[in-house]
Amino acid sequence: MTQSKGKYYITTPIYYPSSNLHVGHTYCTVMADAAARFKRLLGYDVRFLTGTDEHGQKIQKIALEEGITPKEHVDKIVGGIIDLWTTMEISYDDFIRTTEDRHMRRVQEIFRRIYEKGDIYKGEYEGWYCTPCESFWTDTQLSDGKCPDCGRPVEKAQESAYFFRLSAYADRLLSLFDETPEFLEPETRRNEMIGFIKQGLEDLCISRSSFDWGIKVPIDEGQVIYVWLDALSNYVTALGYPEVDGTDGEADLYRKYWPADVHLVGKEIVRFHSIIWPAMLMSMGEPLPKKVLGHGWLLLDGGKMSKSKGNVVDPVKLIERYGVDALKYFLLREYTFGQDGLFTNEALLGRLNADLANDLGNLLSRTAGMSEKFQAGKIAKPDMDGEIGASVDAELKRIAAGTAAKVEAFIEEFAFNRALEEIWALIGRSNKYIDETAPWTVAKDDSKKARLNEILYNLAEVLRIVSILIQPFMHHSSEEIRKQLGLESREIFWEDASVFGKEDGYETVKGAALFPRLNIAEELEALGNINPEADDAV
Ligand code: MSP
Repeated sequence: MTQSKGKYYITTPIYYPSSNLHVGHTYCTVMADAAARFKRLLGYDVRFLTGTDEHGQKIQKIALEEGITPKEHVDKIVGGIIDLWTTMEISYDDFIRTTEDRHMRRVQEIFRRIYEKGDIYKGEYEGWYCTPCESFWTDTQLSDGKCPDCGRPVEKAQESAYFFRLSAYADRLLSLFDETPEFLEPETRRNEMIGFIKQGLEDLCISRSSFDWGIKVPIDEGQVIYVWLDALSNYVTALGYPEVDGTDGEADLYRKYWPADVHLVGKEIVRFHSIIWPAMLMSMGEPLPKKVLGHGWLLLDGGKMSKSKGNVVDPVKLIERYGVDALKYFLLREYTFGQDGLFTNEALLGRLNADLANDLGNLLSRTAGMSEKFQAGKIAKPDMDGEIGASVDAELKRIAAGTAAKVEAFIEEFAFNRALEEIWALIGRSNKYIDETAPWTVAKDDSKKARLNEILYNLAEVLRIVSILIQPFMHHSSEEIRKQLGLESREIFWEDASVFGKEDGYETVKGAALFPRLNIAEELEALGNINPEADDAV
């Protein structure tokens, strides 16, 4: 085991279990998973948290419509979410549900602490009330001045509620963005947040009395805690906070892992994570997360993929057809962090065929195939370095040994597409190397046996390096490559990806193709039924 390089705590948002998740949600979780796996490979002590945000009026309403209790509703959906992450082999260390007792009692304690600090006061919440829906709405939530849910008229109404003195933290928040610019990225989001604070921060209403599906305000049983205060707290309650003396073994986790290294969130919830959450932590007297990273949305046919619009792509169907590695690769390779990106069936199939079946798949099958055909699977470490083919070999070796450092730098910035581009540049260079060196011709000349072995050794070394580089993103493919190289039982170390010429030799075992070549027309037709909305018709 590599010595720990320190701790790394990464979180995804906790998802609303209003209905099943779609491929847009999996995008965020796949990125967090790739970062977590990468940091583990580097030797960090990683904690990766995800979960579900189960309270609030919306969930209560859906359950009511279904004729079941909110708890019955969320249990059903959360079961499906956990199954999805299992299918996608998401390597989280903890899954927090906001309906768990460990979370609820800790949120009440957080509320109490902020209250005792003097940052919570009782006041009047003014909004628009829809009587049939029993819902409060703000000015901006209304649709054409009517209830956004049922379209009926609303009335001005007041309810007494608790408020958090968010306004008192405006200056400290501005200093945070100013002094620690890396706290929030990308920069466009930071500028938006600075603008937002400068317009003037109002105190935040943090309790509701018009519905009861939530955590009770500890000092007033007639109110439930606002769902965002409840939800944001998950990042610390899952570590045992504030029970730092420990009642159930989680206490030490807070000391060990907080502050979070990265909160990965979608762009529309950056505001909650970079304004409300830091202000809460400031009030609690706790350290702030090191970074909030806001990613863009996956769009379908020009609009945001969303459950409420019904234009969603089901990740499970894609995995059933193409496998986990293919979906993860596509999500990480296709989109640029921070920007929105269009999901189309064409783009998906194009990448699967060109990058996976052709580039990576061919490199492995050609190498393992030639090794079997010409050398009965045995490749020795060559000692003829610098002889025939030196310059073409030298270039390949230089690129192969230099890729890991570039990949590492790009992953640190969450630029997964650039990281994968670098790995595929190495794969592309290696396929070209096969064409340039033409091993099948070399094999015809008995006097060139050593050179043939050397070419195959270089290719096996590239594949060994590739198997390490892709491990955080596509661990099945990594394992399959290692199996065919005869390295199956060996532990993987990231450092070995920068060393060319590491292995003493190989005993290759030709296996199945990594990715089948797809018939695009046929697949488009099949996907047209699965994802009709993702047909390329923007
Ligand atoms: N429950 C809150 C988060 C609380 S975190 C303390 C929430 N839940 S959500 O289910 O609506 O969204 C969770 C995440 O999924 C958000 O970061 C959101 O941006 C992301 N996505 C939802 N649809 C998406 C796409 N179409 N594309 C990319 N991400 C998407 O907000």
